[in-house]
Amino acid sequence: MPARNHRQWNDVPGVLKPGEWVDSRIYSDPDIYEEELEKIFKKVWIPVCHESELPEPYDFRTSSIAREPVIVVRGTDNQIRAFLNVCPHRGMMIERRPSGSFKEAQPSGNPKHMTCMFHGWMFDMKGNCAFITRGEDGYQDRLKKENVGLRRLRCEVVFGGFVWVCLNDQVPSGVEEWAAGCFDCIREAVDTEPLEVFHYHKAIIGTNYKLWHDTNSEFYHDYMHYHNRVTGFNDEYFARKNVGFPNGHVNVNSFTVKYEEYEGFESRETLSFPGFPPNQWYMIDFFPGMNFNLRGSALRCDIVTPLGPDKVMIEFRGLGLKSDTPEERRIRIDHHNSIWGPFGRNLHEDLIGVAGQGSTMLPGSEPRRILHGRHEDEFIHDEIGMRHFYDEWGKWMDRSPSNPMEKYMAAAAE
Ligand code: FES
Ligand SMILES: [Fe+2]
Repeated sequence: MPARNHRQWNDVPGVLKPGEWVDSRIYSDPDIYEEELEKIFKKVWIPVCHESELPEPYDFRTSSIAREPVIVVRGTDNQIRAFLNVCPHRGMMIERRPSGSFKEAQPSGNPKHMTCMFHGWMFDMKGNCAFITRGEDGYQDRLKKENVGLRRLRCEVVFGGFVWVCLNDQVPSGVEEWAAGCFDCIREAVDTEPLEVFHYHKAIIGTNYKLWHDTNSEFYHDYMHYHNRVTGFNDEYFARKNVGFPNGHVNVNSFTVKYEEYEGFESRETLSFPGFPPNQWYMIDFFPGMNFNLRGSALRCDIVTPLGPDKVMIEFRGLGLKSDTPEERRIRIDHHNSIWGPFGRNLHEDLIGVAGQGSTMLPGSEPRRILHGRHEDEFIHDEIGMRHFYDEWGKWMDRSPSNPMEKYMAAAAE
């Protein structure tokens, strides 16, 4: 087949059916991006951090969902709660640090309170307003602290201690029900004993958040990962299945990784998570784009925060068992970072892949077809994970992924 002229390039490839490609405007169109924030990110459960990052009462972490600033704090009752990080007085962001503790006094606030530095209003760990500066002088008995508590957000700690927040008070189900069984494959491994974050870094990448989802979801690109080819391309690897769950989530089934095939690496058997067979590797792609990835001795979690149609922040966490001895932790960190650290054998290659896609799909770029039409009986190089995801995306957006300017129709090709 020769290279194609403009008309040929834009022709629908007759052999593939709608549902076996997406239109690149879903990765580049500013209106679609805005709509995703409203229709998806403001409506569903989003993991924002891990409970081990707030180990003590008064510890907090800030983040954002769909541009809304969020703060999670651990109360004196040890419960983690989430609030909008917005002052009810004049809309100042209450806490600007990424993390810390309210136990000690701040320059303009008392200990054990969240204090808005702008005019000094204070709030307790349950989000109640505890003090309005010169309250009665200005508001007499018209407005009292009972009237101006923080905006409380739905918050659950589940699946190995991740903190999930939802901006939608009317969300129809809790995280467990929303996950629809997709966590079962690693449930025992992550829920038998407490986990702890030992690694955090973030990357801001010039690409659409869904392209990061896609690269986590499809394994065909293991051709790009030399380490994965050497330690993985065998019969067991090609028998790995992709399994779709309700609500757009997907599992990638396990197989035995042969770490010792790669020079300088060794078996990860001794530090396997509880109940997890040696050197196994399960993955969960969680709608709308979060990822949980357990390679025997280390759990990785990717949380995506879309920053624009062509920009995403990805927060990478590595987790081990809280009970690790210093030596076990050292080995676990080595296992994690040698593959998934910024200088590991895998992660940066994925980032190069999606950054390359991002640079061809800038806002305003000509619409193109992005193919995901591989069918291999749902085995590892079948692209059913992406098809499953985009069918769900189409329902939430009421747009057809193959033709996003048309209303959603169930894809023929899943
Ligand atoms: S804006 Fe927060 S106290 Fe005024
Ligand atoms: Fe990859």
